Amino acid sequence: MQSLLNKKIVLGISGGIAAYKSAELARLLMQEGASVQVVMTEAAQQFVTPVTMQALTGNPVFTSQWDSSVANNMAHIELSRAADAILIAPASADLMAKLSLGLADDLLTTLCLARDCPLLLAPAMNKQMWEHAATQRSVTRLTQDKVALLGPASGAQACGEVGMGRMLEPAEITDQLIAFFQKKPLAGKKVLITAGPTFEAIDPVRGITNRSSGKMGFAIARAAVEAGAQVYLVAGPCDLETPLDATGMITRTNVMSAKEMHAATMSATDCDIFFAVAAVADWGIAKPAKEKIKRQGKRAPNLEFIANPDILLDVAKTVKTTAGKSYPYCVGFAAESTDLEKHANEKRKRKGIPMVVGNIGPDTFGSDLNQLLIIDESGSKKIAKAEKLQLARQLIQLVAKKI
Ligand code: C5P
Repeated sequence: MQSLLNKKIVLGISGGIAAYKSAELARLLMQEGASVQVVMTEAAQQFVTPVTMQALTGNPVFTSQWDSSVANNMAHIELSRAADAILIAPASADLMAKLSLGLADDLLTTLCLARDCPLLLAPAMNKQMWEHAATQRSVTRLTQDKVALLGPASGAQACGEVGMGRMLEPAEITDQLIAFFQKKPLAGKKVLITAGPTFEAIDPVRGITNRSSGKMGFAIARAAVEAGAQVYLVAGPCDLETPLDATGMITRTNVMSAKEMHAATMSATDCDIFFAVAAVADWGIAKPAKEKIKRQGKRAPNLEFIANPDILLDVAKTVKTTAGKSYPYCVGFAAESTDLEKHANEKRKRKGIPMVVGNIGPDTFGSDLNQLLIIDESGSKKIAKAEKLQLARQLIQLVAKKI
């Protein structure tokens, strides 16, 4: 799936050492289907050459506003008129100061001033420069002017210092640009999500878990942030990275057991939507051993199980109705081996929730693909096989209409 298909992006590069990452960024944008038109400042060309960017994008690279080979010499107007967005990465402190004042003394700043499309900046600078009052004034002004800032991040810097000012990684910038273009029906909404498996300890080294990878729940978390929501993600043991982490829109709590997942989830039920995506163990071990259980010849230990709390059921009990709408809108998930629709609908009624999403097909575990059956009070609807992120986006749009 290409998430930037048919998008025309002007990629501006200003003078900073992070410019070496712009080559990778151009490639990632193109992999997502965007066409990339690069514009470089004079300083940027000290770090990476126009030829590199031209070879990667397959488009001529613009570096000067005094180019007599461009018809009517109006590149600054034409480039921004044709673009869906201007993305500047890296955006240096100097460039940000100029843009915040509306200066236009080279091609890149001129086309930003002449634009009628969104402008996004990925700042990159030394931490003292970032923290300087002058740069923070630029940030305030640019935000007031509705310029989107992607990052910066904190971490090791080329100058040897550690701190705020590092450019986001190209993959993070790409993901944030993709998010920028998505519809925002959940702006200002809070979404609670459980994801992944749980782990029920037998002793300090052994436990019972399941094959859930967490991919579907994490895809829903990403799609919810893309749609403008603030997300609280309760994740069972899985090694997935928090999606769109640098946006600060996802708060993640890692848990192991169903009991821990229950506690973390119940502390966050003040929300608009709850997606119970986690594959929660139905039973835990009554008394996990404090020490590793030793082999006892041919005798196997007797494990006593106890029923775990039903998180979805308990969240559904907290639902409040105001002005004819009930919050949180609860969405359960069901992976059944037989009679999916029948069992999933029974589950919906038993838990007293408005929607259940059935995973069609036996092989969704760990896969990037899935196929969904959405069941609510009005009936059922199939969503055809696709990448989990694509399905998650469709599901989010559907649920957004319900609330
Ligand atoms: O109860 P059952 O496992 O059949 O239903 C699955 C749905 O219920 C999923 O949405 C799952 O996340 C949720 N669930 C839960 N707590 C449990 C068991 C399942 O939230 N203890």
